Amino acid sequence: MSEKLLPLFGNLTHGVYVIGVSAMGRKNAFTAAWVMQSSFDPPMLALSINPAHSSYPLLVAGGCFTVNALGKQHRELALHFGTPRKEDKLASVNWREAGCGAPVLVDALAWFECSVVGELASGDHVLVLGKVVDGGLLDVEGIPLNYSEVCGFDSSSRLLPDKMKP
Ligand SMILES: Cc1cc2nc3c(=O)[nH]c(=O)nc-3n(C[C@H](O)[C@H](O)[C@H](O)COP(=O)(O)O)c2cc1C
Repeated sequence: MSEKLLPLFGNLTHGVYVIGVSAMGRKNAFTAAWVMQSSFDPPMLALSINPAHSSYPLLVAGGCFTVNALGKQHRELALHFGTPRKEDKLASVNWREAGCGAPVLVDALAWFECSVVGELASGDHVLVLGKVVDGGLLDVEGIPLNYSEVCGFDSSSRLLPDKMKP
C-alpha cells in the first residue's frame, strides 16, 4: 500500500471481537476488528478473515461462527486470541458452546451466533456474511473496546507511520 494511503486507514473506527469456529470435532477462536452489521432484516454480520488463519477451514466446514464483543477490560483476551499459538487458545478461558458448537466466551459483553450465507474474496482476506440466528447480552454495563486501543497487538501497526503507532 502506498505511503499516501496508509495513514488514512487509522481514521476508520472498529471494535474488537473474538470469532469462534467449530467443525470436524475441533474448535478455535481468533481476534478480529474487521466486523460489522450488514443488515437489519434479517439481522446479519460481516467479517473479514485472512484465509491463512487456522480458524478459516473450520469456519468454512462448520458453516457458522460466533462473534464475541470485547470490552475495555479485555485487552489481554484480544492479544491472547490475536496471536498465533501452538496450544489450544480456548483451554485457558471460560467458554460454552453456541447451538452450532462454536465457542461463546462467557465473559464477553455480548455474543452472536451466525450461520454463514455467503463469501466474497477481498484481496488478501475473505469477506464472510453471516445471518444472526441467536445471541445474548452478558454485561449491560460494559464499555466496548476500540481497535485503536489494541492495534499495536497485530501486524497492521508496522504499516503505520511512527506518529500513528499506539
Ligand atoms: C486487535 C487485532 C485485530 C485483528 N483483526 C483481524 C481481522 O479482522 N481479520 C483477521 O483475519 N485477522 C485479524 N487479526 C489477526 C488474527 O487474530 C491472528 O492472526 C490470529 O492469530 C489468527 O488465529 P488462528 O490462526 O488461530 O485462526 C487481528 C489481530 C488483532 C490482535
